[in-house]
Amino acid sequence: MLTATDPSQTLAQAPSQELASALAPPAKPALARVEATVERLFGLYAAHGHADYLGEPVSQLAHMWQAAALAETAGADEAVVLAAFVHDLGHLLAEAEPTTPSMGGFGAVDHERLGADYLRAAGFSARVVALVEGHVQAKRYLTFQDPDYHGRLSAASRATLAFQGGPMSAAEAAAFEQNPDADALLQLRRWDELAKAEHLPTGDLAPLRALALAHLLRQSG
Ligand SMILES: [Fe+2]
Repeated sequence: MLTATDPSQTLAQAPSQELASALAPPAKPALARVEATVERLFGLYAAHGHADYLGEPVSQLAHMWQAAALAETAGADEAVVLAAFVHDLGHLLAEAEPTTPSMGGFGAVDHERLGADYLRAAGFSARVVALVEGHVQAKRYLTFQDPDYHGRLSAASRATLAFQGGPMSAAEAAAFEQNPDADALLQLRRWDELAKAEHLPTGDLAPLRALALAHLLRQSG
């Protein structure tokens, strides 16, 4: 028969090896490395986040914070919230490296790949990397699937679409639909479009910093 016991007493009496290692703080070197990675990542937002978001009335930082806030409000999981916050990291990387080719003044060519490469090297999960790398594909898919969608894009978004390969072909769209994370990519795209609210104060980045730290620690474990 199961009886209720004080969990702390149970833990104190019989600390299994698995439990002990689960409760132990992360090894110092891994924690220090991950903290440095998070510091470098958020340093990019501090240094370049004030730049305007591709001719839109918000900064890069405000845009990505709003995208993450929309994802969190919608109850998205950790990977999707993080992906929303870093989806345009490539534009910040391009700001840090001004020789990066530009889409006619509307941000870096292949910004999704620049961001994905950085995040992969930094130790983010394959899912976060794939969501960032694929977020432009969702826009290309929607312009193929919904003829009215193209007309609803902002002027800047229409201008960059040509650099991004234009609307998908039917074959590309069929392949996109096979992506198991297609729904998350489309949702990310919707938040991307909504995350342009003017005069909305950017919130505290500490929760996103903590989320990134926890995510990277788990990946490194
Ligand atoms: Fe964006």
